[in-house]
Amino acid sequence: MSKRILVTSALPYANGPIHLGHLAGAYLPADLYTRFQRLKGKDIIHICGSDEHGVPITIAAEKEGVTPWEIIERYHTGNKKVFERFGIDFDFYGRTSSETHKKTSQEIFLKLHEQGVFTKKVQEQLYDEQAAMFLPDRYVKGTCPACGHPEAFGDQCEKCGSSLSPTDLIDPVSAITGNKPIIKETEHWFIPLGDFQSRLTEWIEGKKDWKTNVIGQCKSWLDAGLGDRAVTRDLNWGVPVPLSEGEGKVLYVWFDAPIGYISATKEWAQEKGEPELWKKYWQDKETSLIHFIGKDNIVFHCIMFPATLMQHGDYILPENVPANEFLNLEGRKLSTSKGWAVWLDEYLDEFEPDLLRYALGTILPESKDSDFSWKDFQARVNSELADILGNFIFRTISFTDRFFDGTIPELNNPSELDLNTLNEIEAQKKKIEQSYQSFRFREAIAETMHLARIGNRYFTETEPWKTRKENPQLCGNTLHVCLQISAALSSLFEPILPNKMAQLRKQLGLNQPVQWDLITSNLLKSGGNILQGEILFEKIEDEVVDNQINKLKERSDELDTATKVYQPLKKEINFDDFAALDIRAGKILAAEKLKKSKKLLKITVDLGFETRTILSGIAEFFSPDDIIGKSVCVVANLAPKKMMGIESNGMILMGEDSSGKLHFLTTTAEPGSPIN
Ligand code: MF3
Ligand code: ZN
Repeated sequence: MSKRILVTSALPYANGPIHLGHLAGAYLPADLYTRFQRLKGKDIIHICGSDEHGVPITIAAEKEGVTPWEIIERYHTGNKKVFERFGIDFDFYGRTSSETHKKTSQEIFLKLHEQGVFTKKVQEQLYDEQAAMFLPDRYVKGTCPACGHPEAFGDQCEKCGSSLSPTDLIDPVSAITGNKPIIKETEHWFIPLGDFQSRLTEWIEGKKDWKTNVIGQCKSWLDAGLGDRAVTRDLNWGVPVPLSEGEGKVLYVWFDAPIGYISATKEWAQEKGEPELWKKYWQDKETSLIHFIGKDNIVFHCIMFPATLMQHGDYILPENVPANEFLNLEGRKLSTSKGWAVWLDEYLDEFEPDLLRYALGTILPESKDSDFSWKDFQARVNSELADILGNFIFRTISFTDRFFDGTIPELNNPSELDLNTLNEIEAQKKKIEQSYQSFRFREAIAETMHLARIGNRYFTETEPWKTRKENPQLCGNTLHVCLQISAALSSLFEPILPNKMAQLRKQLGLNQPVQWDLITSNLLKSGGNILQGEILFEKIEDEVVDNQINKLKERSDELDTATKVYQPLKKEINFDDFAALDIRAGKILAAEKLKKSKKLLKITVDLGFETRTILSGIAEFFSPDDIIGKSVCVVANLAPKKMMGIESNGMILMGEDSSGKLHFLTTTAEPGSPIN
C-alpha cells in the first residue's frame, strides 16, 4: 500500500468541447476512483489540464481563421468550466501554454540532451515554399490511393479510414496554400526507443494487475520492436526547442504534453503555498502514479513517457494505466466532425450531472467498446435510479415521516431477517471497495445499486404498511434498518452521485459523507430526526429522450450534407459495356454464416432457371434470418470467383449509404426476370 496516490487524466486538446466519449474514456473513471480513495482517507490528488500544443490546435485555428491563442483560450476556459459543472473534482486544471510548463519541458528535454540520449537525424519532408514551412502530415492533402477520395489527409483518409503517409497521396498539395509541396531536408532529435526495449519489457512484464487490453497493446508495440521516435517538429506553435541549433523548431506535442502532468502538479503546489510539494507526488517511491486515458493514448503513456522518465532518473513510473476502450453513440462511431456526439455542456443544460455519472458509469468501455444510447440512459434513470434507489429512499423517509413523526425508530428485538439485512451493508461495502481498488467501476456501481435493491426487497417483504397497525414495533424495526441502509448508501454512492447524496444526507441529518472505513450499519442514532425532502429522482419521459435522438440525427444530417463527400465518378462506358451486364431478379432461398469469415454470408439464390450459390460481404450488417425470402437483383453473368474455398456465382447488388451501411436493391419481378 502506497502512502499517496497521484491520479492524472489525459489532458484534452483545447481544440473543441468535451463530449461523452471523453468522459467515458478517462475523466469519469478517474473521478470515481479519486472520490473513492478520498473517502478511504487516502492522500490523493487528481491532476489534469489542457493540451494546447500540436497540430490539432493549429488546424482548428486555421479552419476558423483565428489564431491558435484564440482557440486554446476559448476551449481551455470552456472545458475547465464544464468539468466543474459535471463534478469532476480536479485538484488542479493546468494548461500546457503556461510558463511553468515551458520551463519544465525544456528542462527535461535539456537534461536528456545533456545525457546524450538523443540522436540527430536528417529527414526529408514536404515543404510549402510559399508558406515557408514544413508541412505536418495533416497539412498535406491529396487523393487517397485506396479509395480515390480527393480530400485525403497525409496521415489518414477520413473516407475509407486508411492510415497513410504524405508520400502515399496521389497529387499531394499543401492544405495551406494549395501549392504542390517540394521535398526538403530537415534535422530532428530522436529518442532511440530501441535502447529502452529491454527495460520497458521487463517493467511491463512486472505489471501483473494491468488490464489485458493495455498489456496487449504494449506487447504488440514491444514485439514489433521499438525504433527511433522524433521528439521535435517543424512548427511555429509549441514549446521551442531550447538549443540554438533548434531555432524555429518545437518539441513534439507528445513529448511535452505528458510533462504537462508534472507542470500542473508544480502549479498546484505553488498555489497551495508549498512549492516543493509536487516532488513528493512525482519523485517519492511511496507514491502510486495512475494515468487514466483512452486506448488511443496507451503507447504514449506506457512506452514513450516512461522512457523519458526512466532516462531522466528523478521520477517515478506509473503504477497502473487503466485505459478504457471507446464509447460509441447510438450504435455508431462517435465523430465530432460529423456531428455525431453528445456535448457535455448541452447535456448539462437539460439534465442533472448525477444522472449521467450513473448511466455512463454503468456502461464504461472498460474491457471493450460500449454504446451510449438515449433509451438506455432513460432506462437507467427510470428503472434503476428512480425505481430502485429513489423509491427505496422515498418509501423509507416518507413512512418515517408520516408514522413516526420523522423520528428514527429504535431497533428492538430484531428478527434474523433484520440482522441479516443490516449485515449486507458490510458485505456490499467490501465488494464495492474491491471493485474500486481494481478499477472495475461498472462493477462498483452495480454492487452499490445492489444494496439499494436489497433494501427495497426487504421493505416489501417486511410489509411495514401492515405491521404499522398490527405490531408497530416490527414496523419500527423495518424503518430502522431501512434508514441505516439509506445512511450507508448516502456515503457508498458518494463517488457516483455526489450531488444527490448530499441532498439525501440533508434529509437524514448527516452533514458530511462518512469516511469509507467508518461506514457501518449504525450511522444513525435512534431518536434522531429526519426531514421529508424532495423526491431524489424524477423519471424521464419518452418525449425528452426522443428529442435528444432527433437533435442528434438532425445535426448529423445537416453536417452530412454540408461536408458530404461523394465518390468520384468512374470513367465513362458505352452502351455496349452496359448491355453486357446480365442482371436478373432472384429470390434468396437460404443463407448461412461462414465460420471462418466475419464478413461473408453464403447465400442460395433462386434465379428461376437455376439456383446459385453467391458469397456476399454483408454478414456484418445482416443475419441470415433477415434476408431469407428477399427478392434481389443479381449480376448473373459475372465470372465465378472462389473465396474461402467456395465458388461464388454472381453478385447481389447493394447500395451503400454514407455511414457505410448496406441496403438491398429489391424487385417485385419474379426470379429470372431480366433487369435492364
Ligand atoms: N491531448 C491528447 C488527446 O486528447 C491527450 C494528451 S495526454 C498527455 O488525445 F499525456 F499527453 F497529456
Ligand atoms: Zn480512402
